[in-house]
Amino acid sequence: MSDVQEATNQLLHVNLHENQRSIHVTESVPRSESEHLRVTIGATVPTGFEQVAADEVREKLRSSCKISKDRGKIYFDISVESLAQVHRLRSVDNLFVVVQELKDFQFKETKEKVLKDFEELAGKLPWSDPLKVWKMNTSFKKKKTKRKKLNQNLSKEKIDNGGDKRDERDVKKELSNNALDSHILDYYEKPAIKEEISTLVGDVLASCKNEDDESSKEDTDPEVLKFRVTCNRAGEKHCFSSNEAARDFGGAVQDYFKWKADMTNFDVEVLLNIHDNEVIVGIALTEESLHRRNITHFGPTTLRSTLAYGMLRLCAPQPSDIIVDPMCGTGAIPIEGATEWFNCFHIAGDNNPLAVNRAANNISSLLTKSQIKEGKLSWGLPIDAIQWDICNLPLRTGSVDIIVTDMPFGKRMGSKKRNWNLYPACLWEMSRICKPGTGRAALLTQDKKCFTKALSGMEHVWRKVHTVWVNIGGLHAAVYLLNRTPQTFVHPSGQDKEELVHKSGIAFENQT
Ligand SMILES: C[S@@+](CC[C@H](N)C(=O)[O-])C[C@H]1O[C@@H](n2cnc3c(N)ncnc32)[C@H](O)[C@@H]1O
Repeated sequence: MSDVQEATNQLLHVNLHENQRSIHVTESVPRSESEHLRVTIGATVPTGFEQVAADEVREKLRSSCKISKDRGKIYFDISVESLAQVHRLRSVDNLFVVVQELKDFQFKETKEKVLKDFEELAGKLPWSDPLKVWKMNTSFKKKKTKRKKLNQNLSKEKIDNGGDKRDERDVKKELSNNALDSHILDYYEKPAIKEEISTLVGDVLASCKNEDDESSKEDTDPEVLKFRVTCNRAGEKHCFSSNEAARDFGGAVQDYFKWKADMTNFDVEVLLNIHDNEVIVGIALTEESLHRRNITHFGPTTLRSTLAYGMLRLCAPQPSDIIVDPMCGTGAIPIEGATEWFNCFHIAGDNNPLAVNRAANNISSLLTKSQIKEGKLSWGLPIDAIQWDICNLPLRTGSVDIIVTDMPFGKRMGSKKRNWNLYPACLWEMSRICKPGTGRAALLTQDKKCFTKALSGMEHVWRKVHTVWVNIGGLHAAVYLLNRTPQTFVHPSGQDKEELVHKSGIAFENQT
């Protein structure tokens, strides 16, 4: 049986009515057929966190992992029985099954020739196993959340380190709005590297179709799958655009399978990833990024859960560790911590009452969700939220094992000018609460200049062990992994104070 026949037969029984789909899908792939199926899974991850994601895959799936030269992606082989576990990975954003990897694609010299090669490629690919996996995956896939555009009031909101000017009634109003309709804001959605992304528009394909074509009858046939092609292209030397590649490859995919192109309401998303001369064809296994979890009450700079996971993982939490995010915003980091490292205790604090309210609401939504899922009262989460000022924390000296925080970049949050005072004061207070010798911290900032200067004056308390360069919504940021040195914290006096002021810029309260 040819590949196309086999793949078409596999898909024949897929019922496209949402609520019945998973039943038909699981029924139509016999267990014996799926038992020994091994495929390569590709995953997009926050750039800079490829190694962290690879470690998670190794630990949880016992599978070795390849980090792509195309930043922000990893690849690993699994047997299909592990598909559900793949969806439970915490460090990955989107998943796809690899149809074929072409490591050294010989791009011809003219655009016409290259596009012709893409057309021919569609019929030569080994679609059958990846399509079986796509079908099995339907029961694991989370459906897309309906997104709302950022509420104008919220986007205009000026929240700064000095606190919000609005009164309690506004806070209450916002909270009730949030409860009714959670805002899904995504400031971090922009591609990490300069990549051209095009999705084949249904109309383009539709207009390529011959009116008398048999396939036009498919419009009314519910058994015909709908698909789209998305092309991600990065590289300087291509003589074609991602749009052209998606269009011509997509046209050939349509002819091959007799699927119907549909830009928004598609069943299958075919991916054409091109990086320099590497071409990878895949089928998407996620409809929306897996970083969309935990958070229902969004703030202006809510961090992706996948990035929060990565930062926590860098600090290797151990059972009974006390883990603090002293500038928690909506609580993305401590909430991810409490769901993944539930044998630790997590403290979320922020000086902005709106942020603390959002964090508390996120914790409570998560609890309600888990109670509904389990159908009983649960134990709760090992987490608490509090309003405080990072410069004066109500925590005992040397009582905290890990600090993980996302500091104000000085762009959407705070100001660069204010950071020159805030950063040294933060690092100083963090060194006080963190356990000498074993304490560690993962601190994210885009204000690297200010951070480096502040850190330079505190080498006796903090040792920088590693820097992870990350891309946050197009901003070049860094996660600094610091170890607390064994030096006991002493409140500086006299000359020591002067030296600290000089070296790191810290402004002590009684300093003029
Ligand atoms: C980049 S945001 C954190 C976003 C957070 N990771 C999230 O997912 O929502 C920085 C946070 O630091 C807080 N912040 C600024 N100055 C502070 C201070 N002196 N004490 C405590 N929190 C402060 C801000 O209110 C803001 O919520």
